[in-house]
Amino acid sequence: MSIKELDNKYVANTYARFPIEIVSGKGSKLYDDRGKEYIDMGTGIGVSIFGVGDDEWVNAVTEQVGKLQHTSNLYYSSPCVKLAEILCEKTGAKKVFFSNSGAEANECAIKAARKYAAEKNGADYYNIITLVNSFHGRTITTLAATGQDSFHNDFLPLTEGFLYAEAGNADALKKLVSENKVAAIMIEPIQGEGGVVPLSAEFVNAVAELCEENDILLIVDEVQTGNGRTGALYGYMKFGIVPDIVSTAKGLGGGLPLGATMFFEKTADVYTPGSHGSTFGGNPVSCAGAYNIIKRLDDEFLQEVEKKHDYIISELQNAQGVAGITGLGLMLGIETVKDVNEVLKFCQDNGVLPIKAKNKLRLLPPLNITFDDLKKAVEVIKNACK
Ligand SMILES: Cc1ncc(COP(=O)(O)O)c(C=O)c1O
Repeated sequence: MSIKELDNKYVANTYARFPIEIVSGKGSKLYDDRGKEYIDMGTGIGVSIFGVGDDEWVNAVTEQVGKLQHTSNLYYSSPCVKLAEILCEKTGAKKVFFSNSGAEANECAIKAARKYAAEKNGADYYNIITLVNSFHGRTITTLAATGQDSFHNDFLPLTEGFLYAEAGNADALKKLVSENKVAAIMIEPIQGEGGVVPLSAEFVNAVAELCEENDILLIVDEVQTGNGRTGALYGYMKFGIVPDIVSTAKGLGGGLPLGATMFFEKTADVYTPGSHGSTFGGNPVSCAGAYNIIKRLDDEFLQEVEKKHDYIISELQNAQGVAGITGLGLMLGIETVKDVNEVLKFCQDNGVLPIKAKNKLRLLPPLNITFDDLKKAVEVIKNACK
């Protein structure tokens, strides 16, 4: 049987896969089972920040896997501590909890917010406000946090205590805060799964002010926007705000499962021994790779990300068949005049692999993609949109 037939037979039917089997890659290049080459403009949904098989990352990971692949959280572990230290140094966070995925990083953030609010204001201060069209994960609680009914259907009842506010409408948000006992407001700087929809600086600042005034925690979900993706180390930095909790995953592990929840001043000591945990969280192999990634995301590197952003915008914004471009850094959504599925198929057939977000073509290339590869990819995308 072919891989496709075996997949259909044995793998749970949760993904509508494209008829492509990726078997290897290097840098921004991916190869399928027939040896066809593609330029990777999706990085496995924003994961492989330094592309496939990046030498430095591979060395960091292989060195650690040869020493010790797992230790549990019963003992001290240097890769986990070193990663927590560099994350705190670069963000101003005070403490970090490690998990394995974006959904878990958000679960950890939500639990921490509820514990903080319950201890400070009382157990009835459990509501978390999230935004309409947001995406925060697939567990029952992070589905509840996700402000899109289409994800909720079939799985009711979800965890209670989530309220949804329209992005961009600060007055409606204020009203919701005044009428409910609220623990936290949770936002994505750019709604990724929602269609690469950035929040306005005005709205983000209004949310931060509202949180400050009401002692409500501000949680920023940087699962997709984090780790250099937007041209800043974390997307919230572009808005000049200081969150109380930041969750991240995807690019942090560079391809190995890793989630992190960062706690700032107010929330640093919310968790106490036994109040949260994870068997695999802080895995030394994932953390050794992530340390290497975070160390390399310096200002010079991030400026290169911005240059690549500018290049894509300058080439595509007035291109035939492009109705608009949204996003920051190397997280971009292209609104196409043609059906996006048609555009995507053309790209795939012509050796370029972007992805989709709602009705937009989504670009999440490796942050270190060469200008040469980027130019080739943009050329194909232009032809696809025509
Ligand atoms: C903003 C955001 N939060 C959370 C998640 C869930 O992450 P994971 O699939 O690693 O659980 C995603 C995944 O796309 C995401 O984009």
